[in-house]
This record gives sequence, C-alpha cells and structure tokens, in this order.
Amino acid sequence: MERNEDKQIFQIVSEEAHQLGVRAYIIGGYVRDTLLERPCKDIDIVVEGSGIELAERVAQRLKTKVSVFKRFGTAMLKKWGIEVEFVGARKESYRSDSRNPIVETGTLEEDQKRRDFTINAMSFSLQAEDFGKLIDPFGGEKDLEAKLIRTPLDPDITYSDDPLRMIRAIRFATQLQFTIVPESFEAIQRNADRLHILSKERICDELNKIMKSPKPSYGFQLLYDSGLLEHILPQLCLLKGVETQEGKGHKDNFTHSLQVLDNVAETSDDLWLRWAALLHDIGKPRTKKFEVGIGWTFHSHEFIGAKMIPDLFKQLKLPLNEKMKYVQKLVGLHLRPIALVQDTVTDSAIRRLLFDAGDDIDDLMTLCSADITSKNEMTVRKHKRNFELVRQKLIEVEEKDAIRNFKPPVDGELIMRVFNITPCHAIGTIKEYIKNAILDDGVENSLQATLPLMYKKGEELGLTPILTLDQLLKEFSDN
Ligand code: CTP
Repeated sequence: MERNEDKQIFQIVSEEAHQLGVRAYIIGGYVRDTLLERPCKDIDIVVEGSGIELAERVAQRLKTKVSVFKRFGTAMLKKWGIEVEFVGARKESYRSDSRNPIVETGTLEEDQKRRDFTINAMSFSLQAEDFGKLIDPFGGEKDLEAKLIRTPLDPDITYSDDPLRMIRAIRFATQLQFTIVPESFEAIQRNADRLHILSKERICDELNKIMKSPKPSYGFQLLYDSGLLEHILPQLCLLKGVETQEGKGHKDNFTHSLQVLDNVAETSDDLWLRWAALLHDIGKPRTKKFEVGIGWTFHSHEFIGAKMIPDLFKQLKLPLNEKMKYVQKLVGLHLRPIALVQDTVTDSAIRRLLFDAGDDIDDLMTLCSADITSKNEMTVRKHKRNFELVRQKLIEVEEKDAIRNFKPPVDGELIMRVFNITPCHAIGTIKEYIKNAILDDGVENSLQATLPLMYKKGEELGLTPILTLDQLLKEFSDN
C-alpha cells in the first residue's frame, strides 16, 4: 500500500464497510503489483455484500461522483486520478463472456477462485482487526516468487469461464517475464479454438500489451506455440519454417521477424514501429519462389506486404488511421536503406529516400538496422558498419539539401496562373519535372532556381505564359 492517497482511500473504505456491516478487500492487480513493488494503477475492491452501496458511501465521504453499472453489480469512482472499482464477491464466473453476467453473491474465497491467475487472486484485508493482511489461499505469493502463471482452478474451467484469459496468460508472462505452468499451457493448446467467441477489440488490447512489453517476441512465440496465433494472425504463422531445394534453404522468417521486433524494442517504445517490425516481411510467403541457379527469392515482398497492411489492421481491429499508413509506409520502404549499402551511393538515391520517408526516416533507419540479423556475428558487424555509412551520408545530404520535408516550391496554383490554364495533365508533368530536377540533378530547392524550369517545361508542352519570369520574380520580391 504505497501511495498516501491510496492509504486514505483504504481507510475510508474500511470505515464505511464496517458501518455497513460488510467485509471489503483489495483484490487483483493492485495486490500483485504491490508485492512486485511495481507502480500500482487502479484499485479493485471486492465486497462480501453490495459493492454498489459501499461505493456510494465512499464516494460521498471522498466528495466525488460514482458511476454505477447495475447490470454487472459494479460501481466505479475516481479520486486524485486513481480509479477505484467496487464489486460484490461472486460465486460463479468473475467475468462471463455471455450477455448475462452471473452475479450470484459469494464469499471472498469463492470470488478468488473464480479469478484468472493465482497471482491475480490475492487480496489485502480492509477490516480494522487485520487491516492490510494478505489473504492468499492459492499460493499466489509463492508463484510470484517462482515467476509462474497458474490458474487457481483446473485451467480448463478458468479458461472456459473467459477464453480471453488464454491470451492474458501469455500477456502477463510476457510483461512480467514469467513462465506459464505446463498444465495451463496445455489447456491453452486444447482450448485455442474458443478464441472465436471473443470480441476482436479485447484480443487487440492484449496484443498491444504484449507488443509494449520489454521482450515482445516471448509473447508472440508463446502465441504461436499455443496455437492461438493461428486464430488471430494466421498470415504471420505462414512465415514459419524453412524449405530446402537443391541444398539451398532460406531463413525461418517467423523467427527472423521476432528477432527484428526485439531489436527494435531495445531501442524504441513506439508501439507502431514495433508493429512495423513484426509485419515487415509479411509479404514473403506470397512472393516466395525457388529460382534455379539463384536460390530462394522474395521479389517485391515489401510492396505486397505494404498492400496487406490495411486488411491486417482491419482483421486485428487496429486503428485504420495515420498509424496504419505509417506502418504501411515503413513496410513498403524497409529494403530501401539497406539497398544503399554500396561503395558508391549517389546523392540522388539518398535524396529520393529522404523524400519518400519524410519525417519517418529515423524510424525507417531503426527498423532497417534491426533487420540486419544473421547467425554469423561477423556478417552482422560488417553490415552494420556499412549501414552506418548510409546513416552518415543521409545526415550530410540532409544538411545540404533539406529534403526531408521537401515541398516543391512551384505549386499547381502558380502554374495555372502563369500559363492561364485550368487543371490538366500538364500541371502534373511540370511539377514532376521540377521534383526530379531537385532530387536527381541537385537543383536548389528554391523558387529562384526552379521558376526557370517551370517556363522551360511549360513551353516544351506548348503552353504560353501570360506573365514573364521577371514579372514573377518582382512579384515575389515585393511580397
Ligand atoms: N480478471 C479475471 N479474468 C479476466 C480479467 C480480469 O479474473 N478475464 C480479474 C483478475 O483478478 C485481475 C482483475 O480482474 O487482477 C483486474 O483485471 P484487469 O484490470 O484487467 O487486470 P489487472 O490485473 O489489474 O492488470 P492490468 O492493469 O495490467 O491489466
């Protein structure tokens, strides 16, 4: 019971419970995190009696509002930024996936055994006589020490109460770097196909928590080994395996993707960069070919992969917004920086990369560097060294040409005004010509340098200007 504010809340809950003649306990994540000395977030209170009634009295004392969810027999209040949820102890399933939650009143122990894991089923008493005492009938504290995820009941029962718990087991194992006990893991394998009854949103929340863990590969490997991944993201499972022909094999792209994910996770907390890392080779199975004399190829897998992203996001219920576009962009560009690892990298190629990646260039470089994996450490070191040269070159060109947020100085409006035309194909042609001149020929990214090119190309296309270059330059210098 760390925070001072928490203590005040617990004291009030204790007093009000006593007044009401009911027994109240702190339960679940708060107890677990306190014992783990991790920062605690929300507080769950379980009451042998009405959680709603107690919540209303506590809210009054704390001078705050209470939200009541009658259907679920729960109530929630917020004070000092802390969320406190009250629930009556239940005999049956803690959280049912059916539309009719079972809210039969029970004792603390009956409630505890219907929770997901022993480490989440511990409670602290809030009764004056043993205030703060740990009540742990299923050995949660021992499991915390041994770093084990175990269900209080037969795992088949716990998982059938709420199949989301199968992913939660993997999520907690990944976040805490714990092991799921074998009988529990086997139950997950047995019940994997029950995932289909869950809402995709709940699954997605858990996946994102796995993704944000220190070593997310651990979770994705468990999802694969348990058979859950097949139901969530079968496209990723297709990356698994090595095929050999004429004595030539390719790398296991599933293992490789997980390695890249961990490499990225070591340097960045960004959830979307991590998704891009996991999905960067997702187009490989569709493009895989064995070419005689060459070996295995995955031509254009980056483009196919980028094309797959919107459907994958839809399937996973990830947001279909600029985050999706960001992942799509990184997947599509992930081979570009490494392709520049040669003795002679032209400024033009560097400028084009800067132009295409824009503000995401640093993330793209992180992904690309993480993508350098090999069993041979020498090879990795050599590639990383060359890669640093590309990074250096990017900085140089960036300083010189400021391409990253490049916007061609001549826009469509100006072209239409100068040549007195309405929207037409010629405008795009002139703009493209100017863009290429800047990116490929090093023409300065300024009005002075590019206006003459607009006149040149316009005239080539048979257009007649109604304003001269001098008039235009004068107009700009007057403004
Ligand atoms: N719980 C459960 N089964 C679920 C979800 C939750 O038994 N499917 C119980 C567990 O006792 C859990 C508590 O409800 O500790 C609170 O759930 P939740 O807020 O989802 O998880 P926390 O344990 O608080 O952990 P986190 O905040 O990291 O999600």
